[in-house]
Amino acid sequence: MNHKGFTLWLTGMSGAGKSTISDQIMARFRESGAKVELLDGDIVRTNLSQGLGFSREDRDTNIRRIGFVADLLSRNGVIVVVAAISPYRATREEVKGKIVNFLEVFVDCPIEVLAQRDVKGLYKRALAGEVGNFTGISDPYEPPLSPDVTVRSDRETVEESVGRVWSELERRGWIESA
Ligand code: ADX
Repeated sequence: MNHKGFTLWLTGMSGAGKSTISDQIMARFRESGAKVELLDGDIVRTNLSQGLGFSREDRDTNIRRIGFVADLLSRNGVIVVVAAISPYRATREEVKGKIVNFLEVFVDCPIEVLAQRDVKGLYKRALAGEVGNFTGISDPYEPPLSPDVTVRSDRETVEESVGRVWSELERRGWIESA
């Protein structure tokens, strides 16, 4: 596969499916022989952003760090997949403004469904007041106003979501089957 360097940025609330979708996309890029790296919030927070919490300031620092690395890699021809809540619109816009090829993917899912799924048990704990500053419960999530792709993880399969992202990348000429 021929490809450009670009950043695929998945934003959305905890449990919406960012990591699941990005894992599938990563597998597809790897199968195609692409140069690709994943920056997942949960993983970044155990190394590059270790020690940061969930205040606005700390989240913004986390997102700026991810954006910095994504820019370094993608301007050198690497595909970067980012999966991070990145709740603040202004901070996402700031990062977007620094990266040449940037595709914003909004992984959308109603909060009722997220609280129902609750894979990590965090919604239950947040609703019980045991986790402070929890996105969507006691902390804001500002949805993108004009995302490049929106996926509704409660209404479409992971394969459908990945397929729609893939089509948009082809349409832009950022990826091309050899
Ligand atoms: S971000 O806001 O800085 O973009 P990031 O994506 O790195 O967040 O990390 C989110 C992950 O941290 C969630 O998937 C969840 O597992 C965990 N987490 C722990 N506390 C919180 C909280 N208060 N709000 C949101 N996520 C939290």
